[in-house]
Amino acid sequence: MPAISASAPAKIILFGEHAVVYGRPAIAVPVDQVKARAAIQAEPLARQGMVKIEAPDINLSSTLEQLSPGHPLRVTIENVLAALKVTTPPAFTLRVSSTIPLASGLGSGAAVSIAVIRAVSAFLGKPLADQQVSDLAYLTEKLYHGTPSGIDNTVITFARPVYFMAGKPIQTFPILRPFTIIIGDTGICSSTAQMVGDVRARWQADPAEFEAIFDSIGSITREARQAIEHGQLDDLGPMLDENQVLLQRLGISTPQLKRLIDAARQAGAAGAKLSGKGGGGNMIALADPQNAQSISTALYAAGAVRTIITQVRQP
Ligand code: MEV
Repeated sequence: MPAISASAPAKIILFGEHAVVYGRPAIAVPVDQVKARAAIQAEPLARQGMVKIEAPDINLSSTLEQLSPGHPLRVTIENVLAALKVTTPPAFTLRVSSTIPLASGLGSGAAVSIAVIRAVSAFLGKPLADQQVSDLAYLTEKLYHGTPSGIDNTVITFARPVYFMAGKPIQTFPILRPFTIIIGDTGICSSTAQMVGDVRARWQADPAEFEAIFDSIGSITREARQAIEHGQLDDLGPMLDENQVLLQRLGISTPQLKRLIDAARQAGAAGAKLSGKGGGGNMIALADPQNAQSISTALYAAGAVRTIITQVRQP
């Protein structure tokens, strides 16, 4: 039997991170330049139910049952089997690989889960619909993050720009004119659970102040959607800058992020902000396509360990 494989892109949040955990909207887009991949090979000679997992990127070679019960890969596979009502699958080996940097805000965990869910369900001859894939990936996200909004599993599963509100059906929207984003990675890993927890502690200490910040982020996100829908790209740069000021007030920016954001602006970006959980990870900058390479060079000079130039466009 030929191997079955599935892949999933990374994601980046343009507007609304953290506020989205508190019911405000956020805009996220897929990033196709990096991907997670899951490949499955049937093992007809092995006993029924044997599942072997190879993930060389994280030095993992194990059977499913040897993994600890809370291991994300084990939980993901067991959730797929349960959803498909398969108790003893035909034996298979699952190989997982990813070019998405870990713990940097690009959704590496969600992308791996989604590739695995798609590959396992296809191998069992019962491919799942996108919403089911996203819902199953959300269960694994909860393991990592405690109170995820669901934006990562949604944008990565549907692999298209989304306007997301927690608990609401996915909303897509037209992108009148494509635009270019440069992603700069500080190389500093941070934990989503920790960053979301830190913001929660500050929100509990001063709910009025933090609700007002979340409201302002929500307004910018709504305006950004309008601007993107109407091709008013000149408005987007200042909106990114305003969103960054509010993220700083949440306490999640760092000197390294600020250095990259300042470098991008000095190199001609129309606007820039951190993206995702903060505390390290990535920043994004908006630029004319012809300026993107020089902004990338400026980001490396300011300490970025990696940059990705990506275009946001109608899929
Ligand atoms: C993480 O990609 C985005 C956060 O808003 C958390 C979440 O939405 O679950 C920081």
